Amino acid sequence: MADATIFVTGTDTGVGKTRIACALLQRLRAQSGTAAGFKPVASGARRTPQGLRNDDALELLAHSTPGLDYAAVNPCCFEPPIAPHLAAREAGMEIDCAVLDAAHARLAAGHRHVVVEGAGGWLVPLNSRQTFADWVAERGWPVLLVVAVRLGCINHALLSAEAIERRCRLFGWVANVIPPAPERLQENIESLRERLPAPLLATAGAGAEPAAIARIFRGPGLFE
Ligand SMILES: Nc1ncnc2c1ncn2[C@@H]1O[C@H](COP(=O)(O)OP(=O)(O)OP(=O)(O)O)[C@@H](O)[C@H]1O
Ligand SMILES: [Mg+2]
Repeated sequence: MADATIFVTGTDTGVGKTRIACALLQRLRAQSGTAAGFKPVASGARRTPQGLRNDDALELLAHSTPGLDYAAVNPCCFEPPIAPHLAAREAGMEIDCAVLDAAHARLAAGHRHVVVEGAGGWLVPLNSRQTFADWVAERGWPVLLVVAVRLGCINHALLSAEAIERRCRLFGWVANVIPPAPERLQENIESLRERLPAPLLATAGAGAEPAAIARIFRGPGLFE
């Protein structure tokens, strides 16, 4: 049923991937029907009576079309907040892309859109042989890059964009302003806009909630 899966990556951990992914889900639901969030691998989780729970996955679940259960949105969940391949190793296992693919297929079968949130940045390892980038490139999904606008972000954004474009389509990017906003905010965003090889889809202001961000997406295809 899905006609679009989008992979959301970021210039780093903590740059606003979850917030932007939630905004994207809200916009896609308002625009064209069903949308599911997908956090294939999460590290950093609480023990609950129902099992391990990760905050990103819970937020994505809350912004998805109702009816999904936790495991559908987050098939691989580890307790320590460390790199996923290390968390998996500590749990005595390796992350298997076939498991992630099967979970994605189940979401895609029931939803028009699937919004996938990676972990950390673009080249984060999944296991001893593969990175998230390898997996996404094999799937052929378009990639949205979230840039936290702060000192150093131009370098991080250009490095990420170059690596993404080697193997995937960079669909667009979002400027996310996490407080405190840096000096020369607009000049920084303009410098990114001039140099990144994909359209700026939204500028999420400091304190902007997903609902507000959802309304301002602009860009190719999906948001016209
Ligand atoms: N535009 C914004 N204004 C204010 N706070 C923000 C904004 N964007 C993100 N934040 C906050 O910054 C923190 C990091 O955001 P978020 O969790 O979305 O990042 P992430 O890239 O998904 O992180 P992770 O790598 O842990 O998945 C969160 O506490 C979030 O609420
Ligand atoms: Mg996140």
